[in-house]
Amino acid sequence: MSREKVLSLLLEQGDSYVSGEAMSQTLGISRAAVWKAIEALRQEGYVVQSAPKRGYRLEQSPDRVREGELTGPLAGCYVGRRLLCLDTVDSTNTEAKRQALAGAEEGLVVISEEQTGGRGRLGRTFQSPKGVGLYLTALLRPKLRPEEVVDFTAWVAVAVCDGIEAACGVRPRIKWTNDIILNGKKLCGILTEMGLESESNALEYLIPGIGINVNHRPEDFGEEIRSMATSLAQELGHPVRRSQVAVCLVQALDRMYRSFPENKEAYLAKYRADCITPGNQVQLITPVSREEAFALEIDDQFRLVVEYPDGRRAALSAGEVSVRGMYGYV
Ligand code: BTN
Repeated sequence: MSREKVLSLLLEQGDSYVSGEAMSQTLGISRAAVWKAIEALRQEGYVVQSAPKRGYRLEQSPDRVREGELTGPLAGCYVGRRLLCLDTVDSTNTEAKRQALAGAEEGLVVISEEQTGGRGRLGRTFQSPKGVGLYLTALLRPKLRPEEVVDFTAWVAVAVCDGIEAACGVRPRIKWTNDIILNGKKLCGILTEMGLESESNALEYLIPGIGINVNHRPEDFGEEIRSMATSLAQELGHPVRRSQVAVCLVQALDRMYRSFPENKEAYLAKYRADCITPGNQVQLITPVSREEAFALEIDDQFRLVVEYPDGRRAALSAGEVSVRGMYGYV
């Protein structure tokens, strides 16, 4: 759409002016179409200065996550080489799945301003209010067997920490297996789903879905999660541009996917350094039980090794259990 391309060109220019003529030539559209796109952007809250003989300059942008904001900085990325930025959707994971089934290529990233049916792990819902969070899913088709991607969510967790650190200068931590924590509260959840070819059981698609609380105020969270959830804005004390977080996150996912699965040692080392669960007494929660154990370490398959009060040890895989602290969420 010309609007996204014009926005991308304006952003590329930074503080400099770009003429309508230059934009029309670069984009292969008429000057009238450039003008129309700029008017449409102004209607959406973009402040675009125009000066005779110099052209246009972008002065201020609303906090929207859209293609025009992302395509420039993501040029050269494999993950994020196609973007689908939506105003609303049931769930970005469900949309990525629909795209996968319709034959979309890997590297597509789906982002939405809100989700009306955001999904969490273990059948939970993921509250996704409009305009404050980053709700993003990547569509991947690694040429691997399903058993070779069991630890993929842990790699994604490291990429999320990398992306947030690059965007905001703070590095969150990981609560095993895939909750991203900042100052003891949940900042982000990850839900990775996969599709298998029905006859051969081959891996057809892998879709990591990431929900980051960016500019949520406490009242944007439902009462039941308010005490254990936080946002980047709450912790940093200032609003954060969601498009900046989106760019850094997709770049981190791109780097991670290029390393997967060969560069396991590096991601395992980072996961171990980021994960706060080992060294703590924890509750292990399944749909039918709740047990206490001591979390010892992360083994070389990203599993959590625990010791039960009777001395028995077990290595737990993601998906088997949820872990809670003894006296609170962490
Ligand atoms: C969890 O903490 O239980 C996982 C939450 C995952 C939420 C993200 S938001 C983007 C993507 N779309 C969804 O419906 N869920 C994931």
